[in-house]
Amino acid sequence: MDLYEYQARDVFESHGVPVLRGITVTTAEEAGRAAEDLGTPVVVVKAQVKTGGRGKAGGVKIAKSPAEATEKAGEILGMDIKGHTVHRVMIAEGADIAEEYYFSILLDRANRSYLVMCSKEGGVEIEQLAVERPEALVRVSVDPVQGLDEAKAREIAEQAGFDAADHDQLVNVFTKLYEVYTGEDATLVEVNPLVKTVDGKIIALDGKVTLDDNARFRHEGHAELEDKSATDPLEVKAQEKGLNYVKLDGNVGIIGNGAGLVMSTLDVVAYAGEEFPGSPKPANFLDIGGGANAAVMANGLEVIFSDPSVQAVFVNVFGGITACDEVANGIVQAFEILSSDGIDPKPLVVRLDGNNAELGRQILDQAALPNLERVDTMDGAARTVAEIASKAK
Ligand SMILES: Nc1ncnc2c1ncn2[C@@H]1O[C@H](COP(=O)(O)OP(=O)(O)OP(=O)(O)O)[C@@H](O)[C@H]1O
Ligand SMILES: [Mg+2]
Repeated sequence: MDLYEYQARDVFESHGVPVLRGITVTTAEEAGRAAEDLGTPVVVVKAQVKTGGRGKAGGVKIAKSPAEATEKAGEILGMDIKGHTVHRVMIAEGADIAEEYYFSILLDRANRSYLVMCSKEGGVEIEQLAVERPEALVRVSVDPVQGLDEAKAREIAEQAGFDAADHDQLVNVFTKLYEVYTGEDATLVEVNPLVKTVDGKIIALDGKVTLDDNARFRHEGHAELEDKSATDPLEVKAQEKGLNYVKLDGNVGIIGNGAGLVMSTLDVVAYAGEEFPGSPKPANFLDIGGGANAAVMANGLEVIFSDPSVQAVFVNVFGGITACDEVANGIVQAFEILSSDGIDPKPLVVRLDGNNAELGRQILDQAALPNLERVDTMDGAARTVAEIASKAK
């Protein structure tokens, strides 16, 4: 998960990285009040979107009075930056910048280590610097066992050519940023620019942090950093239920066991859909995995049935370790769970093949579930579901 700049700022602050005060708001009026609260002669109005190059796109503007902050926030809010609409701005204290530097820590998978990159020439596009003047960008590998200790931090400051007078401050900032990186289980911590102010202070003026979602279980606070409003509500619901679900823009719900099977089901349904009016297409990707029990099936069907664009659903299961009779029982029980929850089923086409397919098919036939049709081949089932979805349009 990528953090917004204001969230990165807060995380930095909690680990003792020097940052400037900032107040995040969603309206122009609040922006003016925030500037007043900060009380500094200059504030910077900064678009909060998860993409770089905000400054270049006009999303970072200086304001010399609260009235000006209101005006600039009004311009930035609602702006589109590389496909991201600005819903929030941070009103940050204005820094009197003498120099802009670059510092980042990232995961170097190939070398099983961390990589620190640092340059005295920050603020600019770092990718460009890396290509045009690679010698200006210092790259230092950090052994995860040893960590970024003081000696290593000093080595980086020296290699990057910083003035000796600034080394102590830089060492403090580098080691604190490393604490952010390891303490929060980040895979990226980037500060561009890290600045030296006119009065000689080193401050992180911008922050980009990516947290490792696989480590979320050991960070209580990380879940609330997630911006649910930016995620599709069905995806949020699926995530809460622990499902592998991706929303797509068609009208045929898809459930399968195994990512490969689900992906090929998407293709087969899209292909079959071309034959029918309105060209029905997959509405989602949903992999219920190997051990598809009744609860998982019910959760999957619930998410898909609550998608208003879904007209028909294709359950495509190839029995392997989980045999088809278990999956069939899962479907039957899922219908019971859903009906007791008051959720109406949508037309369902089921294809069962593989381990214990015959038994599974018998179970479904005996259950005679409403709105359920059984088709025994993948292509046939795809055509049937596409036809149903097409007629429902
Ligand atoms: N608080 C501040 N005070 C003074 N100047 C600032 C402040 N914040 C940002 N700036 C100036 O604006 C420039 C761009 O800001 P910032 O790096 O935060 O946004 P960005 O353009 O989106 O960067 P990136 O592409 O790295 O995400 C900085 O290099 C700096 O010169
Ligand atoms: Mg920046």
